[in-house]
Formats: sequence, C-alpha cells, structure tokens
Amino acid sequence: MKNSSRTLAIATGGGDCPGLNAAISAAYRHAKTNLGFNVIGLAEGISGLLSTPPKTEVIETFLHRHLFLEGGTILGANNRGSPLRVEGERKRLLNLAKANWQALGLNGLLVIGGDGTQFMAKSLAEIGLNVVGIPKTIDNDLVGSDTTIGFSTAVEVASDAALRIRSTADAHHRVMVVEVMGRSAGHIALETAVASQADGCLIPEKPFRWDVRLRHIKDTIATRQGGYLLIVAEGAYAMGESPSYIETRAGKKRLSGIGEKVAQTIEAETSFDARACSLGHLLRGGMPNTLDRILAQTLAVQAIDFLSRGEAGFVLMRQGSTTVKRSYTDLTDERRQIPHDHELLLTAHGLGISFAT
Ligand code: F6P
Repeated sequence: MKNSSRTLAIATGGGDCPGLNAAISAAYRHAKTNLGFNVIGLAEGISGLLSTPPKTEVIETFLHRHLFLEGGTILGANNRGSPLRVEGERKRLLNLAKANWQALGLNGLLVIGGDGTQFMAKSLAEIGLNVVGIPKTIDNDLVGSDTTIGFSTAVEVASDAALRIRSTADAHHRVMVVEVMGRSAGHIALETAVASQADGCLIPEKPFRWDVRLRHIKDTIATRQGGYLLIVAEGAYAMGESPSYIETRAGKKRLSGIGEKVAQTIEAETSFDARACSLGHLLRGGMPNTLDRILAQTLAVQAIDFLSRGEAGFVLMRQGSTTVKRSYTDLTDERRQIPHDHELLLTAHGLGISFAT
C-alpha cells in the first residue's frame, strides 16, 4: 500500500511543556514530507479518540516555519485524569476508540505524553492499535527514561529565575525561598539548586528536619555577607508531616504551598526576613531550549520511522545518549524519584547545599 493512502495521527496529552510543538513539527515533516503519509492531529490528547465524533485537528492549519520554537501545543492537552480509569466506562470507551480509529482510517498513532498519558496509550496498545509513545514532562519522573522533553528548559528557566532572586536575597540579607514544580520528584529542584549554587534545597525524596533547616540558615548568614537562597520542590515535606496541597475547582488535590510555609516558619523562628516565590507554570511555558528541541525532534523522527514500518506497542525512552524501546506491557504508573546514590546529590553535598536531613 502506498503511504499516500495511509494515515498517522499525533496526540499530546497531560500538562503541556516546552518542546511539544517541536515534536509535532518534526513528526509531521518526516511522516508527511519525507514518507508521504497523511497526518492528522487528535485534539486534547487521547481524549480526542474517546469522543463522539472523534475530535481532530488539521495540523496544516497551524504549520509555519517557526512552529518548533513555540511553547504550548497546537493540538491542545489536558491533565484532568484518565477517563479510562472511570469504573464502568473503560470497555465502552475502548470500543469507541477502536471504532473511531477505523472511521479515521488510522494506521498508527504517535502519543507525546507523560506517565498518565502513556498509561492511557497502553490501553490502546492492549486492544491492538498501533501506538508509539515518546516521553514528555517537565518533572522528568517517567520510569525508564533518563530525561524527558521539557525538563531541560524547565531547569534552565528555574535556574535563571533563582539567580535573579539570589541577587535580591543578597541585597536585603533575606532568605528567599523558591518553589518549583516536580510533583513527587525533586529533579527540577535538585538541578536548579546545583545550577544556581543555592544554599539549601528541599526535595520529596529527603524529608527534612525543621531544626536542621533553621540552624543552617542562621549559621550561613552569620558567617558571610548576603542572603540565603533555598530551592524547594513543590512535593517536599518535613519529617513526620505530609506534602502541602490546595484543592482545585474540580475538588482534586494539587501540590502547592510548601514554599510559603517554609518562609513563614523562617520568619517566625529566626530574626531574618523571608519571602517565598513560586515559579509554578512559568517553567511549563514558552520556547524550548536547544536540548529540548533536539530531544523532541529526535524522538519524534524515530517514532515515525517505527510507525512507518508497522512497529508499535512501546514508548521510546532515553538512556544515556541512546533511545531504547520500553514495551507498553512493562509500563507501570510509578514515578521516577531521585535515587539516594544519584551523582548530583554528591555534587550538591560537595557544594555545601544543605538538604536539612
Ligand atoms: O506534571 C507537570 C506539572 O506541571 C507538575 O509539575 C505540577 O504539579 C502539575 O503539572 C500542575 O498541574 P496543573 O496544570 O493542573 O496546574
């Protein structure tokens, strides 16, 4: 069969991140321009295939020369959770996905997503649909991949912000607490702390002690000029306590508030002024950096090559500088945290960055 009568679809799911449009643009170029496939977009991730009628996007409408540099995703995304987990709905939705797949004449689907989206894609693979996934999330917490699309840019933006905050901390002899995203993993916080030579860092993998935290701040400020820069992962918490959440409009819990809590405690328990700054969604928006553009385009081209040969049923993961296949069968919904023997923890200790454990 000629490729011109074959169709591939692309979906972006979960929270957005820098590099999604770079992946879409590279996948489109390779699949359409080089290999001659028809290429369509699914709107709002895999949910587009679980709707009646299926929700699709005409990628050509959005294409332009600089799309690969743009933040967000032209296909839309949502991280409202998987409808396939809803009791009693799974079977109906998977039958609908199959019917929509046939109606759209699809031969393959590229899923650009994090753990939740890839877990949904696993269900599509299980019913025999040709799916290849590539990993994206600023949190870098996908099991099996050393890095994910969006992470490098998030760290770069966070480090740049932290360095700017450091100068105001020093000018005022204040403690500045910078909260960064990452869910239950501290990858963004740890890399940001090292890249900005912070004084302290709090990550979920190492529940901290309040007494050690406060003592380190007092001792550090007493022995040198300037302020104190503390990088805090949104999922960090003190020993014996729980992570800080706020409730969303949908009644779900969202990690937020540990930075403010730490700053308020520092003001209450020491003689120093403390201010919290949550970088939040700043890390998810805007142009992908060079590394993310290379990563996104590399994985997208590789995924299209597999789909064009009819090879599917796996997520492409990065291990070191190579790409490996991880079968959807082996995919779990665990998250990758920082192991206690991680090289960068040693670097941080060498730099005197305190985790207050
Ligand atoms: O998973 C990416 C992420 O940005 C997390 O770091 C963060 O906790 C969450 O998404 C925020 O989600 P929302 O877009 O619903 O605010």
